[in-house]
Amino acid sequence: MHDKNYHIITYGCQMNQADSETIAGILSNRGFKTTDSIYQADLILLITCAVREHAEQRIYGKLGELMQLKNINPALVIGIGGCMPQQLEVANKLRQKFPRLDLIFGTHNLPEFETMLDRVFADREQVFEIHDIAGRITEDLPKSRIDRHKAYVNITFGCNNFCTYCIVPHVRGRERSRNPNDIINEVINLVQSGYQEVTLLGQNVNSYGLDLNRDFSFADLLKELAMLKGLSRIRFMTPHPKDISDRLIDLINKHDNICNHIHLPLQSGSSAVLRRMNRKYSKEGYLQLAQKIRDGIANCTITTDIIVGFPGESEADFADTIEVVNTVKFDAAFTFAYSKRKGTPAAGYSDQVPQMIKKQRLHRLIELVQQYMLASNQACLGQTFEVMVDGPSKKDPSILSGRTKTNKLVHFAGQYQAGDLVDLKIYRTTSFVLWGETI
Ligand code: SAH
Ligand code: SF4
Ligand code: F3S
Repeated sequence: MHDKNYHIITYGCQMNQADSETIAGILSNRGFKTTDSIYQADLILLITCAVREHAEQRIYGKLGELMQLKNINPALVIGIGGCMPQQLEVANKLRQKFPRLDLIFGTHNLPEFETMLDRVFADREQVFEIHDIAGRITEDLPKSRIDRHKAYVNITFGCNNFCTYCIVPHVRGRERSRNPNDIINEVINLVQSGYQEVTLLGQNVNSYGLDLNRDFSFADLLKELAMLKGLSRIRFMTPHPKDISDRLIDLINKHDNICNHIHLPLQSGSSAVLRRMNRKYSKEGYLQLAQKIRDGIANCTITTDIIVGFPGESEADFADTIEVVNTVKFDAAFTFAYSKRKGTPAAGYSDQVPQMIKKQRLHRLIELVQQYMLASNQACLGQTFEVMVDGPSKKDPSILSGRTKTNKLVHFAGQYQAGDLVDLKIYRTTSFVLWGETI
């Protein structure tokens, strides 16, 4: 299938990003070339997210737009994969709404992606493949990574936590860990090809290895990787607050190449809401953990995810969330209004919070977290940080952007390549970005 161009649009989290890189790898092995232009594409794929209703609505809109392109180019193949069609009901709705969709596939169908391509391109079939259950982890799928200096590396797939609001376990299946050797070998290969940074991915990285029946934990994996020569930075996403061990905190502090940034999703500051969310920690437990991290890891930033308006959330519950934000003083936070997800327990709770109240609470929370983000950034003024260059800034390609180990975004000028490590002194900040200069 030479001379064919593909264009992938990825929504959602790093899991989808990693899946898109696998799909790109398969396409590239089959002779496809990537294109930035939807008008030059022979194949357009949407890799979708189902975590909130808003995410799904955006995707319906986008798909409607893309379908118009088929009027100009009837040979254009349009496909949709990822978490949205993994919900069978949604997949059926997509099929009804967009009868000219060529390819619909779920999160568990990547191993057959190549066969699906043949069916669409050679046999001109409409393909609809959604597996109910995840198969075994397939190790030999190729990857075509977007970056040459930093890489996502899956360590677990799926999730067993079943937070009552969350669709992810329903669309990503039960938790499965990759074998340590497969992960370590992948990272060694990356380092040998010039990669400087890896981000280890899992819905709950702390439970890595529990399903392998061998005595090898996330901390063991992290320790092995930290000792690899030439690997400048290790990140991980996401640890669950219920099982961060003292040993892990110690390990992060000891190894200079494990980044001093922890994304620690709070979700709510109210112990009652946390219980109904099935989060398995309390307000006090979270506060103790955050303190342990601040005390145990030098200059560690803590970022978080917070949901407002979970069913039954009272004004007093929300005040608990505000109190935790005021105590921990998060360096950054993603904030969301609770969104009902069909098939999750919380969608059936009778005490849903009115939209208006959710909006008001979200607004109040955003204002507060932005104050702490600004304070956290202002504290960097005059300090010097090692920044890994990512390349031209997405917003203004005439300047460069990069990240500190603490995961702060820095803008700067100069002649550097992606992956370069530069020491920059911070001279200006906003809530979202630092500005640095060479010293
Ligand atoms: N596994 C990760 C993240 C999963 S989804 C973790 O446990 O942290 C990313 C974020 O989306 C969650 O942390 C949560 O804050 C938010 N989220 C998930 N389901 C949601 C829902 N139904 N409504 C609003 N936000 C939601
Ligand atoms: Fe969703 Fe909870 Fe699993 Fe995270 S840990 S993916 S929030 S069920
Ligand atoms: Fe969205 Fe799927 Fe990730 S639902 S958040 S893309 S695992």
